[in-house]
Amino acid sequence: MSIPNHILEQLNSQSDLISIIGRHTTLKRAGSEYKGCCPFHGEKSPSFYVNPQKNIYHCFGCSVGGNAISFLRDYENLTFIEAVNELSKQTGIEVPKDEQQNVSYQRSKPTPTPKPVSRPAPKPVTDVITQPASKPAPNFLSSENSPPSYHNEGDSTYNDNAGYDSAPNHIPYADINYSSDYGGADYINTDYNPTEQQGYPPAWLMDDDSTTISSNNIAADKEGNLYELLSQIQQFYQHNLTTHPHAKHYFTARGVSEQSLDTFGLGYAPFGWQHLEHQFPHDIEGLKALGLVRQSESGRDYDLLRDRVIFPIRDNQGRVIGFGGRALDDEVKPKYINSSDSPVFHKQHVLYGYYESRQQRANSWMVVEGYMDVIALYQAGIYGAVASMGTAINESQISRLLTLNPTLTLSFDGDGAGQKAAWRTLEVSLPVLSDDKELRFLTLPNNQDPDTFIKSQGDDAMREQITNAMPLSQYIFAYLSERYDLSLAEGKAKLMSQVRALTGSLPKGSSFRYLLNNDIYQKLGGKRNQNIEAKDALLDFDGDMTISQQLQLCFLFQPRALQDDPIEAIWQQAGINSLELPAHIKRRAPTDANRPLAWADLQDDALFDVVSTIQRCLAYLPQDANAAAHFILSNLSPLAQEALSRSWGAFYKTLTARNILNLDEQIENLVIQLIKLHMQKKMQELIKNPDHIKLAIVRKQTQHLNDWLREQQAEQSAQMISI
Ligand code: UTP
Ligand code: MN
Repeated sequence: MSIPNHILEQLNSQSDLISIIGRHTTLKRAGSEYKGCCPFHGEKSPSFYVNPQKNIYHCFGCSVGGNAISFLRDYENLTFIEAVNELSKQTGIEVPKDEQQNVSYQRSKPTPTPKPVSRPAPKPVTDVITQPASKPAPNFLSSENSPPSYHNEGDSTYNDNAGYDSAPNHIPYADINYSSDYGGADYINTDYNPTEQQGYPPAWLMDDDSTTISSNNIAADKEGNLYELLSQIQQFYQHNLTTHPHAKHYFTARGVSEQSLDTFGLGYAPFGWQHLEHQFPHDIEGLKALGLVRQSESGRDYDLLRDRVIFPIRDNQGRVIGFGGRALDDEVKPKYINSSDSPVFHKQHVLYGYYESRQQRANSWMVVEGYMDVIALYQAGIYGAVASMGTAINESQISRLLTLNPTLTLSFDGDGAGQKAAWRTLEVSLPVLSDDKELRFLTLPNNQDPDTFIKSQGDDAMREQITNAMPLSQYIFAYLSERYDLSLAEGKAKLMSQVRALTGSLPKGSSFRYLLNNDIYQKLGGKRNQNIEAKDALLDFDGDMTISQQLQLCFLFQPRALQDDPIEAIWQQAGINSLELPAHIKRRAPTDANRPLAWADLQDDALFDVVSTIQRCLAYLPQDANAAAHFILSNLSPLAQEALSRSWGAFYKTLTARNILNLDEQIENLVIQLIKLHMQKKMQELIKNPDHIKLAIVRKQTQHLNDWLREQQAEQSAQMISI
């Protein structure tokens, strides 16, 4: 499917990005841009910028960025095509018809039934809102009345409309004050415009034309909207809890509070093979498109979900898009049935609990296995738990959660199946696990799931478990060491090769790849390399030293490292000096924009003193390292001399005691860190005092440097792997 580029460009450039994003975070004008706290990574001080001229956004904190389509897709979890349609609606720019996702269906004219079911009387919106509180309760809500036939649980064949006829006053929803009876408004958040929500109040309450199906009117066969239909079905299911006490009791017995019933819009699908068809007689096509009504081999339509408690599944905007139904009896198989994929429900994109968690501004995320786990955690005040839809969680879902918070906890049952699922999840997550992201694994004791654990041990115990979840490296080792005999060299080798295979799928350039291999290699008793020894020596020696101080000592130990300027060397190797800037920046950039940093640029007097002194006396230095260092020290400014002399003795001793002779790698690492710090500082300055050209240059250079570093690290870990 392809939508012409010019249309995408139009949609992106003409959409009102400020108000789209403004629904999720407060944006304030800052010069020609808008800024606010990043909705993606939940920060306290704003580093998220929206440029209304170019209609793009960028976060300097977590570096997400993009345009209107990408925002709707990445933040509101719309599919590409949904995002396109949404923007098309907002801007009025037409998207070629056949590219649109079909969320509409043809409502049917009433099938002439011998005894027509009447629909509720039309009710203007204002009427609904202003209904006097003293209005008597609608008949069908009154307990004195016998329930309509769909409440009759014995009636599983449901082959006529007798129920409606014998109790004409019991027409569902006939006269309901929405705002008080359904509590539906509770889950509509403030930043969501209720007038935009499909089907709320239900269309038929507002629609003067669709009074009764018996009137054969034209409106009955106008287009229906799946979102509207879903919303009404959800309200129907939810309402059933009040009329089917055993269903409500099921939830109560499992500890679900009244409030949670409401928040998650939980409900009940009654017995009866055709309750939806009876409830929504115009909407058979829609019900079928949603997979909620199926056709048997004999051609009879029947409801998918019968006598099950219902978990409505919502998309990122809170619209109901599908349902999960659980049998009330544990012995019934399958325990859960989910409605099938439909034009509005794409299981692989949906995370149950995501919308509700976002409403609570959740900041730490956790993947759990089931609906009830999500609800139990939420009820315990632990927000951010999500579950995939009965299928394994996939890479893009993990990636999305990692964008919201770089640490993601995965909780799986302790049994074999749970652990297998955890391992599979680990495998799919590795490709998106860049160095700044972290996975943690939570396996609860005694094969419990979060739901049962919270019930038996309490909220605080659950929080503690989450805090103590296992880091990835530990989990990998724990998992694999149970599967191989590590008393044998063969076992170790097999484990190591598994680790290599795993880490091979980490993103290209991941230094975690190297570290993880090394870590596990060491756990198995392998030898460490000299570079790590040198790093440890520096750290053991004085954990409080700054990068600059470490570098000064390293230069003192190995002054010849300055024979060729290390900054220039990195600049050149990384190719920054020949970096092509985009034309529009290049035009306005100084000609030496890509020249290497000078030591003086770092604005670090002590370091500059050491470097320039060494550069001056390189030719006269004695051979002996200690003597050379003292020669240099004596040429430093008194202040620098005093500070360095104090640490030099111990440093020299530590390194020689460990027989470390060469600090090349260490020096390179430290210089790179200094350069990166400098560039970060510079970018911050340029954001504060905007200079877009300079900012663009530094950003481009930083990007380039990071790419190069990633490549370097990848090479390093490849070498490590081939050891
Ligand atoms: P579990 O069988 O682990 O059950 O299914 P659970 O979540 O603990 O359920 P409760 O607590 O007994 O109610 C975990 C998840 O797998 C999916 C559901 O999404 C469920 O929440 N599942 C399970 C199905 O889709 N179908 C099934 O038959 C069972
Ligand atoms: Mn459970």
